[in-house]
Amino acid sequence: MTTTDRERTAGRLLRSSAEHSYDPQVEIDWEAPFAPDLYFVPPHRSSLHGTALWESLTDQQRITLTRHELASVAGLGVWFETILMQLLIRGYYKQDPTAAHAQYALTEIADECRHSVMFGRMIGKLATPVYRPGGINAFLGKWIATTGTGPRMFAAILIAEEILDMYQREAMACEQVQPLVRMVSRIHVVEEARHVRYAREELARQVRAAGAGRLAFDKLVIGRAAYLCGTRLIHPAVYRSIGIDPAEGRRAAAANPHFRDTVRWSGERVVGYLDDLDLIDGPGKPLWRRSGLLPG
Ligand SMILES: [Fe+2]
Ligand SMILES: [Fe+2]
Repeated sequence: MTTTDRERTAGRLLRSSAEHSYDPQVEIDWEAPFAPDLYFVPPHRSSLHGTALWESLTDQQRITLTRHELASVAGLGVWFETILMQLLIRGYYKQDPTAAHAQYALTEIADECRHSVMFGRMIGKLATPVYRPGGINAFLGKWIATTGTGPRMFAAILIAEEILDMYQREAMACEQVQPLVRMVSRIHVVEEARHVRYAREELARQVRAAGAGRLAFDKLVIGRAAYLCGTRLIHPAVYRSIGIDPAEGRRAAAANPHFRDTVRWSGERVVGYLDDLDLIDGPGKPLWRRSGLLPG
């Protein structure tokens, strides 16, 4: 892609941002109570759906589990967005402020600011714990937020954005899901379509510009990001909400063929794209295999 193509894409994304941006503070009815009989994620996407544990739960317990699973996904989403905003603002620091490309980076940060407020407010309304990565993942998140550039930065962004997008496209159309969750999903899907477009083009450009040594290291970091997204979307502590020990719940979900299909399905689109760029191999390949995101 030439510099002109880059500016043309950024110009289009800026126009789309001007026409289709939402303020969740005013677009969403935050005061409306949750419906007692609706789920928080489509029930067939619950990590325990189809297991003996799931069969043993009452309808209300199943709804409670999806409430905590949604909070877990949203908690991971806020965490990713906080990293992404740091990456974008650091990239912007070195750029020409008159370039459409640089202005789009700022516009995307503005989108992510609103998203994180929206997810935070939703988690507050869910009245669940705030689930987010801890330990080594928290450390790695801080590390990539302060050092991420080039292919590893845009691939990690894309993995998180595209996986979340798969879930949200389905949730926004699902009549078994709470209206508030469907609205939050719809707003996010519309705005993330621009982010995915931007990250995909940037990633392809940066891969072409990177040397072999750089790409080998980046493939390892990208594999680690995929491993996190494939394995930690659902925080094991969510199972406490229905009286199941976190280790037992995590084991049941990991062995659940329905959930394994769900994880694979959520990765289909981004795996296809990263594979075309030859980013799913080398030192990151074992982590990809353990992520559950690869087909077969
Ligand atoms: Fe977002
Ligand atoms: Fe985004």
